Amino acid sequence: MNLPNAFVCRVQQELPEQADQLFAAISENAPRVSIRQHGTKKEAEGLPLDTSIPWAERAYWLKERPIFTLDPAYHAGAYYVQESSSMLLDHVISQLPSFKRALDVCAAPGGKSLIIADRLPQDGFLICNELVPKRADILKENVIRWGNSRVSIVSGAAADLAAAGCEFDLILVDAPCSGEGLFRRDPDAIVNWHPDLPAQCARMQSSILEDILPALAPGGHLIYSTCTFGRLENEAIWQLLQANELEPVALDLPSDWGFIDSAEIFNDMPANKAFRAIPGFASGEGFFIAAFKKPASNSQSLHLEINVATIENPLLQLKGSLELFGLANQQYAALPKQWETVLKLSKKLKVIHAAGEMGMMHPQNGFVPAHALALSTDVETTFETHHFDLTQARWYLARKDFSPAVIPTGYFLISWQGHRLGWAFNKRGKFVNCFPVPYKIRMDLPRN
Ligand SMILES: C[S@@+](CC[C@H](N)C(=O)[O-])C[C@H]1O[C@@H](n2cnc3c(N)ncnc32)[C@H](O)[C@@H]1O
Repeated sequence: MNLPNAFVCRVQQELPEQADQLFAAISENAPRVSIRQHGTKKEAEGLPLDTSIPWAERAYWLKERPIFTLDPAYHAGAYYVQESSSMLLDHVISQLPSFKRALDVCAAPGGKSLIIADRLPQDGFLICNELVPKRADILKENVIRWGNSRVSIVSGAAADLAAAGCEFDLILVDAPCSGEGLFRRDPDAIVNWHPDLPAQCARMQSSILEDILPALAPGGHLIYSTCTFGRLENEAIWQLLQANELEPVALDLPSDWGFIDSAEIFNDMPANKAFRAIPGFASGEGFFIAAFKKPASNSQSLHLEINVATIENPLLQLKGSLELFGLANQQYAALPKQWETVLKLSKKLKVIHAAGEMGMMHPQNGFVPAHALALSTDVETTFETHHFDLTQARWYLARKDFSPAVIPTGYFLISWQGHRLGWAFNKRGKFVNCFPVPYKIRMDLPRN
């Protein structure tokens, strides 16, 4: 692998003790494939699980890379394919106090959002933001698949999020960065890299942080992470945050996990306050993470009354503190009662996906369930379920032209081995596949 000269020189200067091992690891070893399983959906069978990843719950390295696209359990959200170092977020969050209002500022494709979603309490919510529209669509697909109805997606700049006047207990800034930690996994990361990129990224990172910090509630926590190696984008940003009176949080990481304390590399960093994953040391790609607390103060938190009407709920059984609300355009969503922030943000920013999306009321066809409802783990439905075998499940996911002999009436759920995949509709005896076209399998299917 041809690493850019300027990158090699800088790493040799900044990480003299780690540089050789890092270069050897990214040049000689293939990246390992890893997944994180869903906590409440039916477990996927047949995955080539290797060892478990100690810093995240239900996380495993795989012995080899299966063709995930052909696995219906993947489409059902039984697991998410995620790089293992970045799952350290799960361990970091587990060391912070519980939170109800969470914001993921730079969220797509969404692996870290799903980690936060899994740690939300019943009455908590997560707003995922993604500035780039195409990436927001991928994020939406992943969030819907995971099926946590407490997650909304919006698209805007950090300044717009803060200008909406909302406050959060936990904010993650997994910042756009120069991507050096992905060199081994993604050849484009090398092609796109240039010597000025780290400085450009550091400027963008500090401006995102400056814009978003007003939205962090007093006493709330900020997590900052990147997938790059340069000090400028990691420890220098850490020092900027500390200089702005954020209190660094001590993190407890067993040394045998292989993450390196920034204090071991830079003598102006305190111990246990920021960690790096460096290939050759930790089993995963490059990553940096640190957490901060915003000091408590007397600043007033904003409060906005919810202003939507509760509607009758004949078809859905909602868990916990969710209530069904009628939104604009005959859309229905199941939302916790105290969601002023979500409504407030949705008035200010482009909404890509409303949390708790359930479906819409069609003037002729009645209630039309949303794809998100089929995959939701928060809502049980009374719709009938039709079970497919593996071949039929793949045809369904690929939207092949086929029709089962006998089908239920109206809308019904399609399931494979207990994994809910989506909806179908009986149109005067004809099977109508409702699996969303943008998410369909586009590769050739095996013959059996
Ligand atoms: C490192 S990626 C996030 C990865 C994601 N957190 C995950 O775990 O899947 C950074 C994201 O920030 C977005 N982004 C780029 N510029 C941004 C900006 N100025 N403000 C906020 N987000 C931005 C990028 O489009 C990208 O999706």
